[in-house]
Amino acid sequence: MKVTPWDVSGEIDYNKLVKDFGATLIDEKIKKRLKTPLLKRGNYFSHRDFDKWLEAYDKKKIISVITGRGPSEKMHLGHLIPFLAAKSLQEEFNCKVFIPISDDEKFFVKEDLNFNKVLEYSKENILDIIALGFKVNETFIFEDFIYTDIYKYAAQIAKRITYSTAKATFGLKTENNIGWSFYPAIQIAHILFPQFYLGKHISVVPVGIDQDPFIKLARDIATHKDFKLEKPAALHAKFIPSLFGNIKMSSSGEGVIFLTDSPSEVKRKINKYAFSGGQSTIKEHRKKGGNPDIDISFQYLKIFFEQDDKRLEKIYYNYKNGTLLSGELKIILIEKINAFLAEHQKNREEAKRSIDKFIIKNSIR
Ligand code: TYM
Repeated sequence: MKVTPWDVSGEIDYNKLVKDFGATLIDEKIKKRLKTPLLKRGNYFSHRDFDKWLEAYDKKKIISVITGRGPSEKMHLGHLIPFLAAKSLQEEFNCKVFIPISDDEKFFVKEDLNFNKVLEYSKENILDIIALGFKVNETFIFEDFIYTDIYKYAAQIAKRITYSTAKATFGLKTENNIGWSFYPAIQIAHILFPQFYLGKHISVVPVGIDQDPFIKLARDIATHKDFKLEKPAALHAKFIPSLFGNIKMSSSGEGVIFLTDSPSEVKRKINKYAFSGGQSTIKEHRKKGGNPDIDISFQYLKIFFEQDDKRLEKIYYNYKNGTLLSGELKIILIEKINAFLAEHQKNREEAKRSIDKFIIKNSIR
């Protein structure tokens, strides 16, 4: 398996990853503190110091959330996982959320991505993020190419990271352009930004586990004598698989649901591609039942789309005992996704009017 911020491949063993990264599995005690199914049902599986973040909340100290997006394309369902978590944490713990948009990262890393195109994707992606329902005045969004104030923090951080650390942490290669080598300083500045902005406090970063190397390095830098900040906490999500059941939903190919997909596209893709844990004939399915644990439609319902625990459980057992057929399970998922996307696409239009209220402006000097 390979899991780095810029390359995920192979069969992922999440337990091994947690060990290798030196993180901690989310336990029942933590789950009890959380309300949202997305954070409780196992998709978020590991953390760093999230117990300390909860403790700070209990002691009525400042806490915040920070998570970002690299705008290389339009967004798909997988990209939403950290932002839905951030929104739930904002609602449950009444805290500020910071959302950096790393247009520079994707510009450096994607050979064919042109400068104006990446600026366009930033704007498009920001609308998708606002559409999830973040609170105005409590949510701060910025793009690296526009919010140039970030540079002064990144420069101070860059000075404390040696090239050999960056190379070992991110697998930099000599043929990479030099933008790749500097970018980690920018993302660490993002992760520490809530503290630069509000003063020293504990912030949590909900992300796909591929982003952890940035967090680990940010934690090392935080306590350096130049900064004397709190180590940021983290919540790690497993990847939403592609419709084919591959490890990670990604934009290439047909195994992906984009936030802009129409109801008929969603229906076509799920019916045609969603990997089924059902039997090959109805007769056999009724007799032997299906396997919800490998069925992509069930997995999507479990991660997010069926919010009601009781209904989810019923679907699980009906599928397992053969009462519910694969086609019927797919219909349930298609309806759920299309209802979510209809609401999302409406909110996205409304976000066009409120976008300015979320964007942090450069300081004037
Ligand atoms: P990006 O834009 O590639 O992805 C955004 C977030 O979505 C997660 N993700 C997924 N999660 C579940 N299932 C999937 N199939 C899936 N695909 C992507 C990613 O892990 C990520 O959390 N460098 C970052 C953006 C960034 C950032 C930050 C993140 C910039 N500054 C500060 C955290 C903190 C990136 O390129 O993510």
